[in-house]
Amino acid sequence: MVEKKLTVGYIQFQPQFGQPDKNISYILERLNKIKDADLIVLPELCTTGYAFNNREEAKTYAEPVPQGKTIQILLSIAKKRDMYIVAGINEKEHDNLYNSAVFLSPNGYVGKYRKNHLFNKEKIIFNQGDLKFPIFHIDDIKVGILICFDWIFPEAWRTLVLKGADIICHPSNLVLKNLAHRSIPVTAMINRIYIICSNRIGIERNLTFIGGSMIVDPKGNIVHRAPSDKEESYVTIINPYKARDKKITERNDVLSDRRPDIYEL
Ligand code: ACM
Repeated sequence: MVEKKLTVGYIQFQPQFGQPDKNISYILERLNKIKDADLIVLPELCTTGYAFNNREEAKTYAEPVPQGKTIQILLSIAKKRDMYIVAGINEKEHDNLYNSAVFLSPNGYVGKYRKNHLFNKEKIIFNQGDLKFPIFHIDDIKVGILICFDWIFPEAWRTLVLKGADIICHPSNLVLKNLAHRSIPVTAMINRIYIICSNRIGIERNLTFIGGSMIVDPKGNIVHRAPSDKEESYVTIINPYKARDKKITERNDVLSDRRPDIYEL
């Protein structure tokens, strides 16, 4: 096994609804308290909050990517701190609105993912993602992004895994208790990947967000899980190359043993 060290983590906090300036200042404060990290994952819609009443309301807080003010501020910190940042953003492009996540590097803006599987009321607020499942790079490490409710679709994880993802970042605003938190370790295990789920906490309008951000290793072990109702920044050192070992036994490999020829409907 080749050794490669990457310090990765998340910031679990409570974004204030409709207060991007306040939220970005808070995120900066929290990022500055993290001594050293290569990759930090922030929650879904982390600069605007989540519980929009309708599309018009969401639009008033949306930003173009990457020109938006909060993204530019995050880019400056990525550069200054020499770190990669994945952050959930309310994205406006012309008349369209996307629940997106940006992938920012120390050298600037890299790209974005737009949530493919919208949850509940999001369906009347945002457009469906139209960028499929992009892969981003940290040197030779491959990183994918899924956003919150995407978690319930095994095809989403598997597509990224078949494209070589070693780490999948999962900016979230989870509200359904005891579902994703049970599924994510199993998903990491059957795909042999690292998952960094960055969830939020707090109550917004009629929604309670359930925290429990977690980092899971390719054997499905929970390296660390945050509380359900408290803020927490957490970083740990991982060896992403461990996600390249897909072997379960001497004779079994979870990718090369697949038999797509018999998976027809
Ligand atoms: C969710 O997809 N934000 C539950």
